[in-house]
Parts: sequence; C-alpha cells; structure tokens
Amino acid sequence: MAATDGYGGLGGRFYSGYIERPLLGRAVIRLVWGGDANPMYRSLEGLRDLRTGLTVLDAACGAGLTLKWLDPSRVGRYVGIDNSPAMLRRARERAHRRGLRAVELELADIEAIPLEDETADICLLYNALHVVPDPGRAVAEIVRCLKPGGRLEGSMLLRGERRRVDRFFEREQAKPTGLLGTGGTRSDLRRWLEAMSDVELEVGGSLATFRAKRP
Ligand SMILES: C[S@@+](CC[C@H](N)C(=O)[O-])C[C@H]1O[C@@H](n2cnc3c(N)ncnc32)[C@H](O)[C@@H]1O
Repeated sequence: MAATDGYGGLGGRFYSGYIERPLLGRAVIRLVWGGDANPMYRSLEGLRDLRTGLTVLDAACGAGLTLKWLDPSRVGRYVGIDNSPAMLRRARERAHRRGLRAVELELADIEAIPLEDETADICLLYNALHVVPDPGRAVAEIVRCLKPGGRLEGSMLLRGERRRVDRFFEREQAKPTGLLGTGGTRSDLRRWLEAMSDVELEVGGSLATFRAKRP
C-alpha cells in the first residue's frame, strides 16, 4: 500500500470536483490534460444500462465516480476498492446520499484485490492505470477477479500523446505527489490488455477509453 495518500488532500478534492461534472470534466480534461473526455463519459453513461444482478468491481474507485451512473436497483453486488482512506470516505458519503446500502467499499491495494478468483461480471477501471505503481500487475489482478466473459471498462491518461502531459509525469518522477504514477503509452496499454479479448481502444489526445473482455 502507498505510504502517502496522494488523493487525500487538495489534489483529490480538485480531481473529484471536475471529474464528477461532465461539462466541467470535459473542459478541464481538454484544457489541462489535452484529452477528449467524450468517450469516457459515454462509457460511464453506458453503466446505466447494465444487466440486472451483476457483480461490479470498481478498481481504484476513488470517491465513487461510477456510483453517479450505476443504477442501484440493477446492481447485484458492488465492490469498490481504493488505497486512499479519504477517497473511500467520500465514496461512502456518496453511497449514503444516494441511499445505496449494498455497496462494499474496502481499503485495498489494486494488486491484492480482496475478491475470489472469477467473481466479477464487470470491472470498472476509470483513471487509475496512470496512477498505480505497476499498471501491468494491476490489470493481471483484475483479470484474475473477472469471470470468463467478464467485461472491463475504463480510461487512462496516456504518455506520449501530449508534451504537457509528459511533462506532468516527468515532474511527478522528480517530486512525487502520489497523484500520478509512472503511467504508460498507448502501446503499453495494449500490452497490459494482451490477456483480454475484444479490446477496443479510443484515444482522444492524452485520454484513452478502453473496453475488453476476459476470454
Ligand atoms: C484519478 S483517481 C480515479 C478514481 C476513480 N476511479 C475515478 O475515476 O474517479 C485514482 C485513484 O487510484 C487510487 N490508487 C492509487 N494507487 C492505488 C493502489 N495501488 N491501489 C488502489 N488504489 C490506488 C487513488 O487513491 C485514487 O483514488
């Protein structure tokens, strides 16, 4: 588990403040990160139509962004994990405000998700792979948790697409804040997803939105 809770402070609050508001989120992602957030918000919109009764794993769930779109009357079981106590507290508050009782929010590392093998029907992985220390291991752990045929939906900030984003990553390596990890390029992302089938990748500037299936 990370020693510092990078998302526990102002950075996490700033992030939640824009990402949860699609109009603002699109603007900030375009202006600050040079990315097109439309595919990501379309993917989040799609969560409204999930089949009833599915087990949903939200890996690095943060403050519970996806709880804004998931329909509580349809979700069978929701397990959100994150290694930031502050982000989990915000996710609990959100779940409480929305009257969601059947949510399990656990303090855990993405490389050691407290779920049995082949449990989840769908894993949500929004905006986490550019933050976690070892994205390849994180994806392998998610594959372990997914049922055969289970889906992955997510997004990540890419290196190698916009110079200003690369500079943010370089600054993070020199002076870590915990808000970014080592990240990866679009070919790194394809490699991490190699164990999956039906991989779809939409890259808009520095933001990639992806979906895939566990074979
Ligand atoms: C940019 S936020 C994304 C949160 C949420 N998925 C969303 O899209 O709003 C990244 C999250 O990854 C979490 N995180 C970072 N490293 C982690 C790790 N090793 N295990 C679990 N969560 C981690 C952070 O605490 C933070 O909440």
